Amino acid sequence: MPDEGKAEREVPDDALVERFHQLWYSQPDTWLTTYWLGVKTLKCPLDLWIYQEILFTTRPDVIIETGTYSGGSALYLACICDAIGNGRVITVDNRASDDRPAHPRITYVRGSSAAPRVVAEVKQAIEPREGAMVILDSDHRKDHVLGELRAYAELVKEGSYIVVEDTNVNGHPVCPNFGPGPMEAVEEFLAEDDRFVVDAERERFLLTMNSRGYLKRVKA
Ligand SMILES: C[S@@+](CC[C@H](N)C(=O)[O-])C[C@H]1O[C@@H](n2cnc3c(N)ncnc32)[C@H](O)[C@@H]1O
Repeated sequence: MPDEGKAEREVPDDALVERFHQLWYSQPDTWLTTYWLGVKTLKCPLDLWIYQEILFTTRPDVIIETGTYSGGSALYLACICDAIGNGRVITVDNRASDDRPAHPRITYVRGSSAAPRVVAEVKQAIEPREGAMVILDSDHRKDHVLGELRAYAELVKEGSYIVVEDTNVNGHPVCPNFGPGPMEAVEEFLAEDDRFVVDAERERFLLTMNSRGYLKRVKA
């Protein structure tokens, strides 16, 4: 066992982080073979653990997830809600699928997550008194992510979070040719909305796909 609390905290060097990210995406048995209760889940388990901690401490009434894919992350979130006895999941994807898991806490919405019709449908499903946690994992291009941030931020109450997934693309440190993506959307959003800050404490496991992507609302 490590000697708890005595070691100085160190930040991993860039080369180590870069190598982890490269391996994560290049190996055949990492991100594409991660399952939650048998359902494919495109998440790094280190980040899922952080999700669990956020859900337990902030207890949002609703989790809005954009980018459902197979529904593995939505099922994971719903199971954590079951465990803590609170919350439901609204998950949005523009691609239809009959194979996604059914769960009483999950609502599937079909459509583009930044489209006004879809944003209105999601907002209509939430009571004014309810607070949301938002997870953005759909189209990772900057303009789309920024549109999502602007659309859903108001649903997040003080103390809760928006998580912008995959800020690692566009050379941070993977996919250098991606073009402006989630990281660039985060920087522009933070420059225009001072209610949110980066919560670096949520990156404390040293390796995350969401660097600077755990955004905490700190002002009403
Ligand atoms: C990275 S996957 C989501 C992974 C999932 N959250 C998980 O952790 O398993 C991205 C998903 O976003 C969806 N998507 C792409 N563009 C979208 C858009 N404009 N609106 C909503 N969903 C979109 C894709 O169909 C795909 O299922």
